[in-house]
Amino acid sequence: MQRLRKGTRLVVASHNKGKVWEINQLLAPYGLEAVSAGELGLAEPEETETTFRGNALIKARAAAEGARLPALADDSGLEVEALDGAPGVYSANWAEPGRDFGMAMSRVHDALERKGAWSSETPPKANFISVLCLAWPGGEYAFYEGRVHGHLVWPPRGGKGFGYDPMFVPDGAAQTFGEMEPAGKYATSHRTRAFAAFKRDALEGIEPAVSVSTGAGAERDLAGLTAAAHGLSTKDELVTFVAGLRRDLAEHGSQWENSDLPRFLTGLEAWLAATGPTDEPRWRTLAKALLGGSTHK
Ligand code: IMP
Repeated sequence: MQRLRKGTRLVVASHNKGKVWEINQLLAPYGLEAVSAGELGLAEPEETETTFRGNALIKARAAAEGARLPALADDSGLEVEALDGAPGVYSANWAEPGRDFGMAMSRVHDALERKGAWSSETPPKANFISVLCLAWPGGEYAFYEGRVHGHLVWPPRGGKGFGYDPMFVPDGAAQTFGEMEPAGKYATSHRTRAFAAFKRDALEGIEPAVSVSTGAGAERDLAGLTAAAHGLSTKDELVTFVAGLRRDLAEHGSQWENSDLPRFLTGLEAWLAATGPTDEPRWRTLAKALLGGSTHK
């Protein structure tokens, strides 16, 4: 299996700009540049397989062949033991219509009750899974998986996180993912574990540099930054965002409207004054304000 080297361009097989931006931040210290399948004008393939690996491979392979570059795709979901792994690859579908995860969690609960598999003494076992697939244009591919095992609770608890987080308690913890501080969730999460496996096996021999150029091109990626600022929801994501903004200043400061501190603060002030009271302060509000400070006149 080929390994990624410094300077490699890697396609992230996703059309979600925020997700691509986050993966770029993760890869930047390794001197790798992530571009999205969307930016390259590649079509999104249909996810017709019935396994995480199958769907991750479809997405990674389509991007690798379309771009003639190595491509990374991910697929994730919740697997409930007593439901034979459901909702599994259909985790997002169970929340449709309306991307309603309250309804999706009720569906899981109801399905378990119908099977007589819900009991508070022996709560149902479940795990989250994240599968990354790295595919090469020649046809080679590899998977990197991360799982976190635990059990389900009813009713759901906690308003943090997303998706099925409020009904999942990881082994060794008392809180649900929905009650935990983000740092607690990310320390054990399936996604963190899958990325750790990817870093260990696919980036072997590449030392992360303390400060490197992302090689992200001559243009400031304002669309990517904006998408990330609008999509982030945790403190950890905000910390990553600020690191990315700092790197953006180092590389593209000449394209900032306000690249010195007095002008930045004036821009921040103007952005805050111009923003309506409807925007409730959230982690992403801070990110939007910082980005606004760099552009606002
Ligand atoms: P995707 O791979 O980003 O499409 O995620 C598939 C679905 O799995 C999401 O819509 C969520 O329902 C669920 N899921 C994946 N990871 C998590 C998680 O960390 N917490 C809660 N739900 C998750």
